[in-house]
Amino acid sequence: MTETVHVPLGDRAYDVHVGQGLMGQAGMLIQPFLRRPKVFVVTERRVAGLHLDRLRDGLGKIDAPALLLEPGEAIKGWAGLTQTVEWLLDQKCERGDIVIALGGGVIGDLVGFAAAILRRGVRFVQVPTSLLAQVDSSVGGKTAINTRHGKNLVGAFHQPVLVLADVDVLDTLTPRDFRAGYGEVVKYGLLGDAEFFVWLEENAVRLSDDPVLRTQAVRHSVQMKADIVERDETEQGDRALLNLGHTFCHALEAATGYSDRLLHGEGVAIGCALAFELSSRLGLCSQEDPSRVRAHLQAMGMSRDLSDIPGDLPSAEALLGLMGQDKKVVDGTLRFILARGIGEAFVTADVPAGEVLGVLRASA
Ligand SMILES: NC(=O)c1ccc[n+]([C@@H]2O[C@H](COP(=O)([O-])OP(=O)(O)OC[C@H]3O[C@@H](n4cnc5c(N)ncnc54)[C@H](O)[C@@H]3O)[C@@H](O)[C@H]2O)c1
Ligand SMILES: [Zn+2]
Repeated sequence: MTETVHVPLGDRAYDVHVGQGLMGQAGMLIQPFLRRPKVFVVTERRVAGLHLDRLRDGLGKIDAPALLLEPGEAIKGWAGLTQTVEWLLDQKCERGDIVIALGGGVIGDLVGFAAAILRRGVRFVQVPTSLLAQVDSSVGGKTAINTRHGKNLVGAFHQPVLVLADVDVLDTLTPRDFRAGYGEVVKYGLLGDAEFFVWLEENAVRLSDDPVLRTQAVRHSVQMKADIVERDETEQGDRALLNLGHTFCHALEAATGYSDRLLHGEGVAIGCALAFELSSRLGLCSQEDPSRVRAHLQAMGMSRDLSDIPGDLPSAEALLGLMGQDKKVVDGTLRFILARGIGEAFVTADVPAGEVLGVLRASA
């Protein structure tokens, strides 16, 4: 079973295919975009070892030279960008060619940015292989690299021409990477769809074993992201809702040095739990809502609190300082995504620092 979500962005519109066996159909689905029977695949060693042959089989007669980068967030920087762009130029990738990003969010962000700047922009296809990349980073056109000043500080909006989210490839994810990706799935229910949250409460424990449920969860998440991106492609307003839990998350990622002490999606889950605590403290939502969020995260075996992160963390004051450095801060006021209930998130700029400190201390 495969399903399609259309992302309606005028002349930048594209389809996201979600389902089983999509790698096998890659050639047929990509063919209409090709001016010659050749694509340029950029991936990383771990994903290549597991899935590159399957993609190449699916591409059939389409020639598919591949660049294998090192796995991990560290490649998403200037050096990785140089390596990718120079390889594409070595391979004589032309303005009319298609580049394929095969991998998780790291590869998607890096390769998407390389495609955005190569020859002033070449088209690219996302073949996301992590749950996080399938439900979030492969859709919406945000591409970026990290610099020594922080994450995602240099980038571009560059939409893919096609996204192939084959849920079969998620079978090879580690349980930890799968759970981390789930942090972004649950975020969609919490920010804008209470019914989806109920569905997740009932079904999410079976997602890792059941490809049909997985297809439904990925499709629904992608549809929600597509709806938001359609309303606000370049994040002037509503798109910020996708950052539910992320102000806390970014401070925690900075505090843990972007290391594997805390994966991004794990930070998102903790951030969502804390955003609901904060909303409850501010009298915006009921006291039951944060308890329900936490109960679900616990049922999924996920972190919910600062105390779940191994090792020492900075003080609540220091974490608050790290939030202030987040690039989503507008004019020095702390911008948060809070909620009036499950599925009812909104953006606000007036959150008293004292309440944030209280939430951080209670969670530590
Ligand atoms: N552009 C956006 O809108 C957006 C949104 C969210 C996150 N991001 C970015 O995404 C990145 C995180 O993405 P991620 O969590 O996918 O990280 P990742 O790409 O590093 O993948 C996580 C891990 O899973 C492995 N992996 C990927 N697919 C696999 C598979 N099928 N089987 C086995 N292992 C597999 C990778 O090798 C890696 O070890 C961050 O850089 C973040 O900034 C971007
Ligand atoms: Zn995220």
